Amino acid sequence: MKTVSQTLLERRSVRRYERETIDDSTMEFIYQAIRNTPTSYNGQQFSVIDITDQELKEQLYQLIGQKQIKTCNHFMLFLADFHKIAIASHAKGIDMPAFTDTADGVIVGVVDATLAMLNALTAAEASGLGTCCIGYARTAAPESVAKLLNLPPLTFVVCGLAIGVPRELPDLKPKQPERLVIHRDRYSSDDELLPQLAAYDDTITEYNATRSGTRTDNDWVSHIVDYYREAMSYRILNALRRQGFDIRS
Ligand SMILES: Cc1cc2nc3c(=O)[nH]c(=O)nc-3n(C[C@H](O)[C@H](O)[C@H](O)COP(=O)(O)O)c2cc1C
Repeated sequence: MKTVSQTLLERRSVRRYERETIDDSTMEFIYQAIRNTPTSYNGQQFSVIDITDQELKEQLYQLIGQKQIKTCNHFMLFLADFHKIAIASHAKGIDMPAFTDTADGVIVGVVDATLAMLNALTAAEASGLGTCCIGYARTAAPESVAKLLNLPPLTFVVCGLAIGVPRELPDLKPKQPERLVIHRDRYSSDDELLPQLAAYDDTITEYNATRSGTRTDNDWVSHIVDYYREAMSYRILNALRRQGFDIRS
């Protein structure tokens, strides 16, 4: 098992995996870490679909893209899930309020599912495995993915996580410096932030031009803003409504 410091500070996304399977005791550790996720109200508003069936992974790859889905050993989908409490309250004759029609209801589900994914990721990384989050699992084809996996109402995919025995060790990506990330007591002024942001943009440009593996001439700012431009075409609100989340307030 890696130390906490190794696990957290030497983590990088791994996108190439060996064909090896992951042993049962390691998977059990990951499942237990998922189960012990801190959640809002202890409502545990999340579920995980752990996918190992190769044919199903290929089908998901056809819908979502991202080759890690078919080459990893376990592809986990982290769902926001109010279905379980809805059927449990119905069974007890308790009215379920329309919390899932509020922005905070959706946020609660996203936070819980995301924390569960981070627990899984950390347990897998500590066990020497490689991981890569797959956000396209939420955005690429939400209706088709929901249908393929029999997702009931009041659930939706928040993110995927590919897990496998690593077949590469990419360079660590430089992250924003501490002064950009940790604001002391109050949010820093733009005058303090801007020089640091410009320096970080240069750091990423240099990293992209010199890293091992595929090199690019991308900077940080325009590359990220391009991602946002692309993401504006996703129709997540429609997909959420079809899953029963009719957000009104
Ligand atoms: C919510 C989320 C969604 C992501 N989606 C994808 C994805 O669909 N495909 C992919 O290759 N990487 C994906 N990533 C990985 C990021 O690109 C990666 O974390 C980021 O570039 C930083 O690199 P690092 O993880 O090596 O530090 C995602 C990461 C997060 C947190």
